[in-house]
Formats: sequence, structure tokens, C-alpha cells
Amino acid sequence: MESRVSSNTHLESGQQHAEYQALMQGLERSKFEKALILPLIEDAQNIVEVGCGNGVVLDLLSHNFPSSNVWGIDLDPVMCEASKSRGLPNVNVLCTDATTIPFAENESMDAVVYCSTLHEIFSQGGPSQVVASLKEAARVLRPGGSVIIRDSVKPSPGKTQIRFKQEWVEKRFYNYLKDYELVKRQYEQLSDGTFSVENSYLFEFLTKYFYDVGWDKEMQEVYGYYTEEEFRDELRCAGFEIVYKHSYLLPYFSEKWAKDLLIDQPFTKSTIIVKAEKVCSV
Ligand SMILES: C[S@@+](CC[C@H](N)C(=O)[O-])C[C@H]1O[C@@H](n2cnc3c(N)ncnc32)[C@H](O)[C@@H]1O
Repeated sequence: MESRVSSNTHLESGQQHAEYQALMQGLERSKFEKALILPLIEDAQNIVEVGCGNGVVLDLLSHNFPSSNVWGIDLDPVMCEASKSRGLPNVNVLCTDATTIPFAENESMDAVVYCSTLHEIFSQGGPSQVVASLKEAARVLRPGGSVIIRDSVKPSPGKTQIRFKQEWVEKRFYNYLKDYELVKRQYEQLSDGTFSVENSYLFEFLTKYFYDVGWDKEMQEVYGYYTEEEFRDELRCAGFEIVYKHSYLLPYFSEKWAKDLLIDQPFTKSTIIVKAEKVCSV
């Protein structure tokens, strides 16, 4: 009995380790593209990155702003340790939640960065938790300080038709339909092997279908949580006004999709970068 328990635990921890490894490699792969946020950080002596993960963005911030003070915040102790192990000279890492940034009100934070983090906060706690996190950023920012967000962007409502070039991708799509009850009501199979799928559900599939490790974990998350208009409205709710916005399609996705699928109106945006300034504390 005892050995069964320990061997299961061993298996679980082995799988968890593999998932962390895959996640961290994925975060590292997009480092070059994440650097697009750097020019948006201006005159910032004090910078906080919320959801710093294993420190890919902290590394960029540390090297590009060597005379600034940088803090990384993450609720996952494994990620905090990975960030700390980079030994970045001007960076401190704190293991805490996005809604409890341990700085005083209106303290001299100049910029708060969320890179691939708000979709996780949304997935765990819904829109109210995203607004609570943004309000927490507003609390610690100086007046006129900014939040910089880089994350997925939800497509506008509508339906898109898709056919599969690769059998394994079509099988994954059937699994997606089987495992996620809600999706079943959002698609229609046409007679020629084409599927007509509601855009936001198709977006979730198309941004994840190629995961070998961590498929279940990623499927629990919503990547496309806000449209461009929803970003504007939710930021306003938290006391910010958008001063810069840029949406684009990651080449990583377009290359995969061209190889694996035929889509009647391919998505032109997967990712958004937003800069918003604090106009009031709410
Ligand atoms: C996808 S990773 C992004 C890491 C890093 N920002 C990057 O772009 O490479 C998201 C990180 O957010 C963290 N996270 C999720 N929810 C959080 C919360 N409520 N408070 C603090 N960190 C959170 C996760 O632990 C994870 O490390």
C-alpha cells in the first residue's frame, strides 16, 4: 500500500516537473517578442512585474533599465525560485498575489507590467479578479504612472469555417469537443468535412492544439478573455485610460495554422499590447 502511494506521488511529481519544464521553455521562447513592451516603459525608476514566472521579462527589464529598481511578483513559489536563481542585480522577487502588492498607497511605482498574466488571473477568478488586480496596480502607482499589458486578445463574435489538413489535429479537435461540453453548442459540422465554429472557442483551440505536455492545464485557462473594447472598459473601471494599443498575430501561430488547417477568414490578431495611464484611484 505504502509503495503504491509513493509511486503515484512520484509519477505525479514527475508529470508536474515535466509541465513546469514545458511551461518555462515556452515562456523563454517568446522572449524576443515580449521585448516589444520595453519602449513603452519610459522614465521609470521603479517597475513591478506582476506574474513574473521564471523571470524572462525580469531579465529584459533588468538589462534594459539597469539603474531602475525592479520587483517581480508571483504567487507560485516554484516560479519565484526560478526568477531568483537568475541573480539579476537590480531585481527583487516577492511571492504574493496580484491583489496584494506589498507597497504603500501612491508609492513611487512608475510602471506595473502584466505579461501573459492577466489571462491566468481571469481564468482563476473571472473579470472581477482582473479589475481587482488592476485596481491594486492603480493603488501602488504614482499619479500618471502606467500599466503595460501584453496578452491574448479575444476575437470579435461571429463564426469561422475550418477544415483540417492533418489527421492528428482533427482528432484533437474531436477531443476538444468531447472534453469541453460547452463547446459542443458552439459548432456545426457541414457536409464536406468543414466545421463552423464560434470565434472565441475556435481561438482557444487554435492557440493550444499543439501542446503535447500540459494540454489539460492550458485548456482550463481562457487565453482570449477580452476584446480590444473590453480592455478599454475594464481599464477605465480600474482608473486607467489607454494611451497606446497594438494588436498583431504571432508568426508562431500563422506558421502552424498554414501547415495544419484551412480557415475561411484567418484570425489577424492573437496578441495585444496596451499601455494605460493612471488617471484616478478608485
Ligand atoms: C504565463 S506566466 C508569464 C510569466 C512571465 N510574465 C512571462 O511573460 O514570461 C503567468 C504567471 O502568472 C502567475 N500568476 C497567475 N495568477 C497570479 C496571481 N493572482 N498573482 C500573482 N501571480 C499570478 C503564474 O504563477 C505564472 O507564473
